[in-house]
Amino acid sequence: MKKYILGVLAVMLTTNMAQALEKQLPQPDKSGGLPLMEALQQRRSGKFFIKKDIDDKVLSNILWAAYGVNDNEGRRTIPTAMNQKELEIYIADKNGVWVYDADNNALQQISDENILKAFSSQEYMENAPLVLIYTGNKESNYVEMHAGSAYQNVGLYAASAGLNNVVRGYFDKEQVAKLIKLPENKKVIITQAIGWEK
Ligand SMILES: Cc1cc2nc3c(=O)[nH]c(=O)nc-3n(C[C@H](O)[C@H](O)[C@H](O)COP(=O)(O)O)c2cc1C
Repeated sequence: MKKYILGVLAVMLTTNMAQALEKQLPQPDKSGGLPLMEALQQRRSGKFFIKKDIDDKVLSNILWAAYGVNDNEGRRTIPTAMNQKELEIYIADKNGVWVYDADNNALQQISDENILKAFSSQEYMENAPLVLIYTGNKESNYVEMHAGSAYQNVGLYAASAGLNNVVRGYFDKEQVAKLIKLPENKKVIITQAIGWEK
């Protein structure tokens, strides 16, 4: 009996922990915004951020633009070689590190550590509220291209939504891989900072 109760407690604890580690995102906006050609005209790297958080709705829009599911078969807003959806997008904000679960429109928490300092190699990063971290298999031939497609989608969404964003390669990849607890067979490809200009 004692064993049974302990077992039930363990299951309850694990379930609660699993729940605590997942954050459901609001539904992204899949209509509206600037017409595509105007967003292309507006696209720019913006190296200035005010101290203002990105709310969950905008975060959901950003991640959906980057790599969200856009049909009933789980295909994405970017094309992927052989439909192998191996790109993984982590996010870092003041509350910690999360990985995007596109199929469930959710975030899985990796850590509650604020690691934004790891991206502060340039002064304009001081107030950046959000960094996307594009990662993939070390062995992959195509994952860098997938990251490029995703960061371009984000850049266009940013242009449409009045957000500043900048793709960033100037950071310590090894350090970031450790901070986001990346498995040994995965690599950090590139990052993208995003936030409000005014
Ligand atoms: C792969 C890649 C890496 C980049 N790395 C950095 C970086 O580390 N720091 C930075 O300030 N800008 C970085 N940029 C942004 C470029 O400086 C910027 O795109 C370029 O100046 C052209 O400006 P535009 O995007 O407004 O046309 C990077 C851009 C790309 C595509």
